[in-house]
Amino acid sequence: MEGTGAPATQPPPAPHPAVAPLAFLLGKWRGEGEGSFPTIAPFRYGEELLFSHHPSKPVISYTQKTWKAASGEPMHAESGYWRPRPDGSVEVVISQSTGLAEVQKGSYDAERKTVTLQSELVGNASKVKQITRAFQVVDGELSYVVQMATITTSLQPHLKALLKKI
Ligand code: HEM
Repeated sequence: MEGTGAPATQPPPAPHPAVAPLAFLLGKWRGEGEGSFPTIAPFRYGEELLFSHHPSKPVISYTQKTWKAASGEPMHAESGYWRPRPDGSVEVVISQSTGLAEVQKGSYDAERKTVTLQSELVGNASKVKQITRAFQVVDGELSYVVQMATITTSLQPHLKALLKKI
């Protein structure tokens, strides 16, 4: 008897057990965001995020790039590593194209598909004092809010975006 004709594709490798609770983030996401802050003019941007992993490592590799929504010209980019722990905590290091370095600590909820992070360290920044990041996956869409506090302005939103898995 003939087969179904379906191609013999390999299933993707299962993530490391430490990474499994954050499997809802894995893959490539693309979408649009809005930037604002009391001291700047609002702007719109396109964005791609990639969360990748190797089954032997308890860490997620993260890369982000953004571009001007109107022209496609590159804007901010960043990359780093996400280290989830079995107790529901997560630590993240991020290096930004502006030269700023972040150490973030926070927690995840695998059922609600959320991650919330607060900066423990912001390095090599002339203005930024604090950064928070909150991510959520709902109906297969990834949304986030990034807030920051600067030397002149209290903690408030700088970035909001909605991305789809591609
Ligand atoms: C402005 C930080 C991500 C685009 C700023 C300012 C700071 C800042 C400190 C200046 C605010 C002021 O002068 O009061 C950060 C941090 C980020 C981040 C910490 C990540 C955690 C991004 C991203 C984009 C972006 C992803 C683009 C998609 C801009 C733009 C301005 C700005 C266009 C206004 C620039 C200007 O008026 O010269 N950001 N930013 N930022 N940011 Fe960000």
